[in-house]
Amino acid sequence: MGFRLNYIFFYKLRNTLRMTGKSADLKNLKFYIHTFGCQMNNNDSEHIAGILDSCGANPSDSLEESDLVVINTCAVREKSEEKLYSLLGRLNSIREKKEKNFAIGVVGCVAQLHRSKLLEKMPHIDFILGPDNYWQIPEIIPKHHEEKIISTKWSKDWHEIPDEQTLRTSRVSAFVTIMEGCNNFCTYCVVPYTRGREKFRPAPHILTEIQELAQNGYKEIQLLGQNVNSYIDPNSQMGFVKLLRKVNTVEGIDWIRFIASHPKNFSTDIAKAMKESERICHQLHLPVQSGSSSVLHRMNRGYTRKEYQQIIKDLRRQMPDICLSTDIIVGFPGESDKEFQETMSLLEEIRYTNIFSFRYSPRPLTKAENITDDVPFAVKKERLIAVQELQKNIQIETNQSLIGSTIKVLCTGKSKKDQNIYSGRNKGYQVINFSSKKKVMDQFVNVQITSCGPYSLRGHTV
Ligand code: SAH
Ligand code: SF4
Ligand code: F3S
Repeated sequence: MGFRLNYIFFYKLRNTLRMTGKSADLKNLKFYIHTFGCQMNNNDSEHIAGILDSCGANPSDSLEESDLVVINTCAVREKSEEKLYSLLGRLNSIREKKEKNFAIGVVGCVAQLHRSKLLEKMPHIDFILGPDNYWQIPEIIPKHHEEKIISTKWSKDWHEIPDEQTLRTSRVSAFVTIMEGCNNFCTYCVVPYTRGREKFRPAPHILTEIQELAQNGYKEIQLLGQNVNSYIDPNSQMGFVKLLRKVNTVEGIDWIRFIASHPKNFSTDIAKAMKESERICHQLHLPVQSGSSSVLHRMNRGYTRKEYQQIIKDLRRQMPDICLSTDIIVGFPGESDKEFQETMSLLEEIRYTNIFSFRYSPRPLTKAENITDDVPFAVKKERLIAVQELQKNIQIETNQSLIGSTIKVLCTGKSKKDQNIYSGRNKGYQVINFSSKKKVMDQFVNVQITSCGPYSLRGHTV
């Protein structure tokens, strides 16, 4: 899952908040951030941009014209790493052509995973910072001329980055990180080795940030964490359900979402809190990975097919209108045809609004890396196509049933293909592209749905 975030649009909300003089070295420095990976990486990049901005540096939308390029990386699959190496190759040739200083920093999950090995492979990198260390960036930049800097030590405590040091890409929809790290050690997953063990942000900080966002006109917030369900306030021991209920009381916020949830930690209390809290969207991303209990066992997921089905049944009983999405891995080591068919039948049964599906990719340090990756590439490919075809047809059917209806949409952008078309999402987090005679950017609008494809709905404002 993930989307790229290029710092092309910066909304400077805080003219008064720019802290000049903190690091004179960064004054007028032009920086460009390229983000790979998940929403948490995107939120981290908003923090990095905010920290640099607060030191006097300026965001740039051009790789070539910037003095500093920060690449925020993802290690979750081999492909995401490969994209980093190709970007680094491109940056190296830009650097060779440049006369002035040009610094390249690699931060995030690949930085944490490979550390000094990354520098051996790519000696033109100037600094490497793990997900727990990127806030050190203002101190590091002035030093990188003298030495290569690697900082990847995990800290046990939460490092709070103030909201005034966050340069958000949207004026209405905000990510709010509530926890980081993972204790689950699914056998395929590298995240516990990149983000470290779970740690939790104190609830008062979370609530203050959300209140400030509401005061600044934000309408939607997404609580973020590798496993938000395991949230526990480090001081008061308040759990996730209570946090949700508190967040729900913040006036001014209309839509609340949270990602990612783990089925193992998903209780009926969470479903109840969702149902009873008017601001929480009836929408949930609940990664299942596989429909086969034996594969789930080998993945160390901690639930069976039946238990997962039970959670879905409970969610739908409490919220018949809930929109569900999931993650699927095909071709996990040893996955037989029969086991794969169980994933297909689960998809047919649950009929998700949306899914993210991946071919299994062996990752360093994980348990599964030591099991033979025995499902041939061609079979993985075939299975991925089968999953995606099945899901595509389901989505066409569900989307078609919405034609003619009027849906509330939060407009957050313009269509990439056509600048006269706006885009946004509904409560169920479905993508809606629509035309409007009025300017509606960053507003709630009612859209009449007139047509659809498998991955988006189309219409016009009414
Ligand atoms: N709990 C996390 C999961 C991050 S990884 C979160 O959502 O933030 C996102 C998804 O990538 C996982 O749910 C899984 O479906 C997929 N994934 C993880 N490791 C993988 C691997 N080695 N090969 C293929 N897909 C993988
Ligand atoms: Fe990538 Fe790290 Fe996010 Fe996982 S947690 S998707 S490895 S950035
Ligand atoms: Fe990854 Fe599993 Fe944790 S998918 S993030 S190890 S819950």
